[in-house]
Amino acid sequence: MRMSYFRKVRKMKKFKKVLALTLTFAMVLSLAACGGGDDQKSASGSEGKDVYKVGMEPTFLPFDGTGDNGDLIGLDVDLMKAIGEDQGFDVEFVNLSFDGLVPALQTGQIDIIASGMNADKKDRNEEVDFSNRYYRSGLVVAVANDNTTINSINDLTPDMKVAAQTGTTSADMAEKLAKEGKIKEAVILNGVDIAMMQLINNDVQAVINDRPVTQYYIDTQKKNAQKDAKEGEEVEAPVKIVGDVMNSERYGIAVQKGNKELLDKINAGLKNLKDNGKFAEIYEKWIGQEATENDLSVITESTDFVDPDDAEKAAN
Ligand code: ARG
Repeated sequence: MRMSYFRKVRKMKKFKKVLALTLTFAMVLSLAACGGGDDQKSASGSEGKDVYKVGMEPTFLPFDGTGDNGDLIGLDVDLMKAIGEDQGFDVEFVNLSFDGLVPALQTGQIDIIASGMNADKKDRNEEVDFSNRYYRSGLVVAVANDNTTINSINDLTPDMKVAAQTGTTSADMAEKLAKEGKIKEAVILNGVDIAMMQLINNDVQAVINDRPVTQYYIDTQKKNAQKDAKEGEEVEAPVKIVGDVMNSERYGIAVQKGNKELLDKINAGLKNLKDNGKFAEIYEKWIGQEATENDLSVITESTDFVDPDDAEKAAN
């Protein structure tokens, strides 16, 4: 039976309405799928924040270490997370050898170095840019706990081997002693943990290292030994610090040379954390004592410095 003209027109109008609705629905669906681009952007950092890679060498607690679950932990980790939170960026941590940190920054493998790095060192300042300083430190000599002949760096003799970590100011000091014939050999190792093991095994007679890190090692060793000791038994750590702190260092956070934008963010974050008490909280958590005014003042003091080598040349 032939369909009347008017029924055909009504049928066509209904078909067009259904088609329009279908096309609209399909368009909405495809827009939602494209909207995933925003989700993909936010995947690189929460709410689309920038994500910076932070390099560190983790045998250096309380600044840089590895937790029981393999995550990187320490004062530098908490500090960088807090600066990121304050300045609106996210951070990811990268485990590298200490002497590989500056090359990794220069080649763009990482964006930041936060690794207990002395910023008052001329050659480093020629390669990277440092933030305001955040921790006052210095180097000490450590010997086996039962050693009775070495009471300071001056008691080291030309038959002795002294260990230090590669790429550090401690390695510079040990290599200088060897060059001057004051010790037999500077044993340069990848990790501070290996250096301490060699000291305990008497493969080397001393280790030069940053005072807070050696002290943290001693305290941790003593705490662990205490767990296995009998009730009331007095235990000692296997190594001890001898003599005075031999130099002064100030740790800084490094960025690629010329990256003023990121450096300004880090400096602004450091200042805010000092002012709002968050830095003092992180300091106490990892250093184990309250930050003094002098400890905190390093963050806002001048970053000018005299390189120890220049000072020595001027003195001669
Ligand atoms: N403060 C010394 C330096 O700047 C040693 C730093 C070692 N840091 C580390 N995470 N292992 O050379």
